[in-house]
Amino acid sequence: MTAEPTSHYFPHRHLLGIEELSAPDIVHLLDLADSYVALNRRAEKKQDTLRGRTQINMFFEASTRTRTSFELAGKRLGADVINMSPTTSAIKKGETLIDTAATLNAMHPDVLVVRHPDSGAVKLLANAVNAAVINAGDGSHEHPTQALLDALTIRRRLGTLSGLTVAICGDIAHSRVARSNILLFNTLGVRVRLVAPPTLLPTAVERYGVEVHHNMREGLKDVDIVMMLRLQLERMQGSFVPSEREYFHYYGLDYDKLAVAKPDALIMHPGPMNRGVEIDSEVADDINRSVILDQVEMGVAVRQACLEVLAHNLDKSDHNQ
Ligand code: NCD
Repeated sequence: MTAEPTSHYFPHRHLLGIEELSAPDIVHLLDLADSYVALNRRAEKKQDTLRGRTQINMFFEASTRTRTSFELAGKRLGADVINMSPTTSAIKKGETLIDTAATLNAMHPDVLVVRHPDSGAVKLLANAVNAAVINAGDGSHEHPTQALLDALTIRRRLGTLSGLTVAICGDIAHSRVARSNILLFNTLGVRVRLVAPPTLLPTAVERYGVEVHHNMREGLKDVDIVMMLRLQLERMQGSFVPSEREYFHYYGLDYDKLAVAKPDALIMHPGPMNRGVEIDSEVADDINRSVILDQVEMGVAVRQACLEVLAHNLDKSDHNQ
């Protein structure tokens, strides 16, 4: 499904999380992103919406698809895009991050796209600069563009979001993707089930307003969408799962567990995937069910939409004076 972008005004200077967005804000971004999908499939992809603008991508944490996607999005809109890859070891929290922000700020960037291992660090940085800031993932807090691209993928495949049921499975405790998705789905009327062992659920999960299951066959029953998450070993101190083999046995998505979902249920994964750990390779590559590469495609369009609305708001402010 494609939709004409609405004329909704986007009332935010930064994009720090789904938490601050209303349903009309989200729908506006999805409609706008929809129009970029068609443009991105053309041979000539370049626009001049961001001509003269400078976008700096600051990734304090490893990334392939998110960084590339933001870079392509900025370039296709005509911005000058700079990639900074500060080695995590050289960056300390607090003052050092603010110092980095002040340094960059002095160069008059228009948009900063920031990924950081600490929850809240992107907001801290946003408070210290004049540029519009986009959160590209902060710790286990939020990853708003991922939730938007997931929503766009679902809406284009199934025609709607509201009334659907999605099962988000796996390492939810450490996942900013899960957090942003839960917030977005709750806002747009998608029913959410979390499926994970108790050790991989966030504390106070009952406050999320979602159903919780510890068993895949119960959690996946009749769902429209199965969203798998990576086991984020780098965020785990100590042992959260007995072994990867045993984890796959109980929580890995294979055809056997998938059989209880709706017959045409979509399979999603934000990537990077651990094949054979949280998802069986054959299921991940199932061309009829898996929309994992659609998610990557939608990522560029969603980031173009986010850059466009924030740049539009910059036009009205005197941020560079
Ligand atoms: C996710 C992230 O970095 O939060 N990946 C992504 O952005 N595509 C999920 C993950 O790392 O598992």
